Amino acid sequence: MSDIATQTTTPSNSSVVLEVRGLVKEYRKAGSPFKRADTFEAVSNVSLDVRQGEIVCLLGESGCGKTTLARMIMHLTRPTAGTITLNGCEMQGLNERRFRPLRQYIQMVYQNPFDCLDPSRRVGSLLEEPLKLWHPELSKEERTRRISGMLQECGLDESCLVKKPRQFSGGQLQRLSIARALLVDPKLLIADEIVSALDVPIQNQILDLLVRMKEEHGFSVLFITHDLSVARKVSDRVIVMHRGEVVGFGATDELLENPSDPYIRKLADSVFTFEGCPD
Ligand SMILES: Nc1ncnc2c1ncn2[C@@H]1O[C@H](COP(=O)(O)OP(=O)(O)O)[C@@H](O)[C@H]1O
Ligand SMILES: [Mg+2]
Repeated sequence: MSDIATQTTTPSNSSVVLEVRGLVKEYRKAGSPFKRADTFEAVSNVSLDVRQGEIVCLLGESGCGKTTLARMIMHLTRPTAGTITLNGCEMQGLNERRFRPLRQYIQMVYQNPFDCLDPSRRVGSLLEEPLKLWHPELSKEERTRRISGMLQECGLDESCLVKKPRQFSGGQLQRLSIARALLVDPKLLIADEIVSALDVPIQNQILDLLVRMKEEHGFSVLFITHDLSVARKVSDRVIVMHRGEVVGFGATDELLENPSDPYIRKLADSVFTFEGCPD
């Protein structure tokens, strides 16, 4: 394991929820369907840990491999090499049937809320679905009680239940996506560019909600963004990716305020320039 990989991880005795070691995903280059030599690594030897109750940010430009990494953790994309351990349970090699019990422990919220909220269904049914799936022991009344409580915690009310997703604003849809993900008490929430399509004031509301819910419920977050200012607002630690590789890591303030790596300095400089511009 490289030096960088070793240091993005944590000592074995700390409370690690997610452990990723030497993860690789190789894809064929576009237009080269046959030659094995014509492949590239979308994710290249990435190792990281997420501890209980922390928000770790995966920061990097578009195309650097963030979503591919998330999809491997979600068991949606098969790694070329490496291991993923969730709550002490190694996931590679598990078929879908054996992975299924673990699925409720990792939930994902996407940039596009329609990736998890079917626009043709009412919100009540969309919120009830994961509870029926993962908690079949709950009565209808208990499900309704949990959903009402979660909506309230997420700044929504029961009038949502009869509406369809297209009747909501972007910010409300992300509140609903977060509510749906948290209803099953995940240990790890993967948030993939969840505020990228929102205006800054709404972004801030959603980030505040995420941090507050994390404090109250104690789950961990792998927060994926290309936006350094967003990373600074929410994360305890940050891991910077560039072209599939980890190029930097550390406590968010330390790393982003005194960047030693030239690529991170470039990222930081572009944000400071942007923030310095008048509206
Ligand atoms: N299914 C796929 N087949 C081939 N290439 C892919 C596939 N998915 C993603 N890629 C490529 O892998 C790289 C990383 O993509 P992605 O993980 O989506 O980056 P990010 O989320 O950081 O924007 C990009 O070059 C992308 O075009
Ligand atoms: Mg992405």
